Amino acid sequence: MSDKAKTAKLIYDGKEYELPVVEGSENELGIDISNLRAESGLITLDPGFKNTGSTTSSITFLDGEEGILRYRGYPIEQLAEQASFLEVSYLLIYGELPDKATLEKFENDITRHTMLHEDMRKIFDGFPATAHPMGVLGSLMAALSTFYPRAWDPDRTDEEVYLTIIRLIAKMPTIAAWSFKNELGHPLNYPDNKLDYCSRFLKMMFSVPAEEYEVDPVLVSALNKLLILHADHEQNCSTSTVRIVGSSLANIYSALASAINALGGPLHGGANQAVIEMLEEIHEKGISMEEFVERVKNKEMRLMGFGHRVYKNHDPRATILRKSCDEVLQKLNRKDPLLDIAKKLEQVALSDEYFIEKKLYPNVDFYSGIIYRALELPTDMFTVMFAMGRLPGWIAQWKEMLEMKQPIGRPRQIYTGETARDYVPFDKR
Ligand code: CMC
Repeated sequence: MSDKAKTAKLIYDGKEYELPVVEGSENELGIDISNLRAESGLITLDPGFKNTGSTTSSITFLDGEEGILRYRGYPIEQLAEQASFLEVSYLLIYGELPDKATLEKFENDITRHTMLHEDMRKIFDGFPATAHPMGVLGSLMAALSTFYPRAWDPDRTDEEVYLTIIRLIAKMPTIAAWSFKNELGHPLNYPDNKLDYCSRFLKMMFSVPAEEYEVDPVLVSALNKLLILHADHEQNCSTSTVRIVGSSLANIYSALASAINALGGPLHGGANQAVIEMLEEIHEKGISMEEFVERVKNKEMRLMGFGHRVYKNHDPRATILRKSCDEVLQKLNRKDPLLDIAKKLEQVALSDEYFIEKKLYPNVDFYSGIIYRALELPTDMFTVMFAMGRLPGWIAQWKEMLEMKQPIGRPRQIYTGETARDYVPFDKR
């Protein structure tokens, strides 16, 4: 932060109020209104927090105008190309890239905690086969708090917090894969701890007792990149949920279950599923791009995977994924008609005044689904994959929120209902 004390002035009802201006390390500016109500009786009103910073944070920087995304200062492009997901997880949570020994310990600790308590299987048995895997994931994340009762005590030692973090990153793929197996009605696979994180997950997902399963390195590399690209995205809906639930000192499993449920909505992580359903509809019904875009412009529907609250130029994650789609399909020697449709749709939309004027560009969800399809994941697992990737970001934000002793999240409102009136007993109404 800069030392220069910048201020803003607000004049209301003939009185002038001086408000401190907070400056971030990337020169972002925010007016600190925390004392405004005490001094003036005024609050600020900003539905959807479109212009409100809920916190300062040193985890992720994004510049929506320039299309920049960095984790702890490292560009997403470099991390996606060169790092491993667990390395990035460590970076997000602990602030620095791990050295070799630290990373090995982190990986080994995670590998040792991949199993779920056998009683968790009984919970799985209670879900109908039609259960959406996101519903299963959210429920089981909440259920983990019952297996680790120490998590309910806000007075935790650093070692306990470390162990909780390890458990979460270790068990998430097991829960995710089991939620898929539940849907298929297949036996649940136990984690193979000889494998690395991504390979282990793929094996739990796709191996069946009757057949040998060989992990394809192309799929491992694609999955590693996808997880990194989703790993954090500053104060989005689900992350804000983690921070707000966690600010009540609720246990982390509950905070993460809330985040998973927030992520499931079609305007957030659920968009990756919605994109594929949209592309499939265009493909199956033979709808022309022009006709589809016209429907969007007439507001009959949204172009899923387009638009972003923050990115108003391009989403760097979408740029990486667009390239990655071609590479993965080529390496697997596969074609996907939906990729051609997506590219054409993007072309038509990006040259249309409606999208140009509203600054609507493809976001991370526009192309990720094509890669998930190449991994042979069913559409309703896409958001589960997003959650797996986002987990370290949620954990990092939860930890930061506690360390900075963020007060309990409790926004105010402007009340617009009836003013005081007298109760009339039922027989006199
Ligand atoms: N298709 C058509 N029109 C759109 C779209 C879209 N995808 N997105 C925004 N608009 C229009 C919207 O109708 C509005 O028009 P008008 O000014 O005429 O009322 C204008 O653009 C501004 O939209 P908004 O809803 O006020 O913008 P927002 O910042 O509140 O919403 C968004 C951001 C991501 C929810 C929105 O762009 C959207 O619904 N996109 C489709 C869903 C999607 O892809 N979500 C994934 C987001 S990225 C990953 C993640 O965060 O999980």
